[in-house]
Amino acid sequence: MKNNPLPRLDTSLDIRNALLPFCRLKAGEIWEDTQNGHRVGCLDAASADQVDYLMDGKKAQLAIHDPPYNLVAFDERPLLQFMEWCKNWVQTTERHLSSNASLYIWLGADQNDGFQPLPDFMIMMRQLPFRTRSFITMRNQRGYGTQKNWMAVRQELLYYVKGNPVFNVDAEYTDIPKILRGYYKEVNGQETENLQRSRSENIRAGNVWVDIQQVFYRMEENVSGCYAQKPLKCIERIIRASSDPKGLVVDFFSHSGTTLLSAEINHRRCVTMDIDPLFCEITIRRLEHFRSTGQLGWQNGHSFENEYTCLQKSGTEEVEKVAAQPRVAQPSLF
Ligand SMILES: C[S@@+](CC[C@H](N)C(=O)[O-])C[C@H]1O[C@@H](n2cnc3c(N)ncnc32)[C@H](O)[C@@H]1O
Repeated sequence: MKNNPLPRLDTSLDIRNALLPFCRLKAGEIWEDTQNGHRVGCLDAASADQVDYLMDGKKAQLAIHDPPYNLVAFDERPLLQFMEWCKNWVQTTERHLSSNASLYIWLGADQNDGFQPLPDFMIMMRQLPFRTRSFITMRNQRGYGTQKNWMAVRQELLYYVKGNPVFNVDAEYTDIPKILRGYYKEVNGQETENLQRSRSENIRAGNVWVDIQQVFYRMEENVSGCYAQKPLKCIERIIRASSDPKGLVVDFFSHSGTTLLSAEINHRRCVTMDIDPLFCEITIRRLEHFRSTGQLGWQNGHSFENEYTCLQKSGTEEVEKVAAQPRVAQPSLF
């Protein structure tokens, strides 16, 4: 089996520099999808002007944000500074949501540092015009920890709303079979067993998600080079529950483009951005790859296979030849 992964692209400077010429977007630019109306911007979520430019006056029904968490795999900055930064993009999100909308935010809690930033974020959110709806925990199969502590396998997801947004409970069944038997209850004068009363053979998703496989390199949806990819299944669950077909979904931290791909598969429109041109390019390529092959990612390969193989094979001459392909992007406003 071929095994041609990319390392983390944010920290592998040589490979970053080699691949950047192949990226369609530079800072301030937007890629427009002519087929289904998605947009990808190489923009800064903390800049209200840049977000306004990306949104182009449209209001979204659903925002799913997965920012850097200020711990472990991410850059760390002083907590107050991180919280100011978060408040900034949450306020901008609020302006771009319709009056009935949902906001989901993935965040972490550093068990070695006062569980920051999760509690600070929750308290900060009380100042903003959102109502709390749920605090979801997704279980990761692999965790981090030592023999001296419980292994950390939890991933936190906060769910807020504005107004009275859609919540499609029918979309919300897991693929875990119901096993509870003998739970009898009278319905319309008749004694019924638990399974008879159910709309589904499977259990409904609650606020603890244990049925979602964390992405790893053997999975088709794997996008190597990315270091924080969310499984399609959890994003799809959010999209199906909290938006309507053709609805507009936004994600300010695209990375591997999971939200965009999930929106495409579920017939929603997605407006997304990443500050890093490499992750913008990966987002666009993942969508294109899906449209041309039906595949969700690259499993053991990667999104720059042509270019990176060229690099290894014959040096910069080949690289420049491929880099000369036309790029489709709007001119930068910033
Ligand atoms: C945790 S990852 C998102 C993972 C994503 N949900 C997925 O499934 O692939 C965070 C991303 O935010 C991007 N990012 C960091 N700061 C940003 C900013 N100010 N504006 C936009 N994107 C930013 C990083 O480049 C990174 O790709």
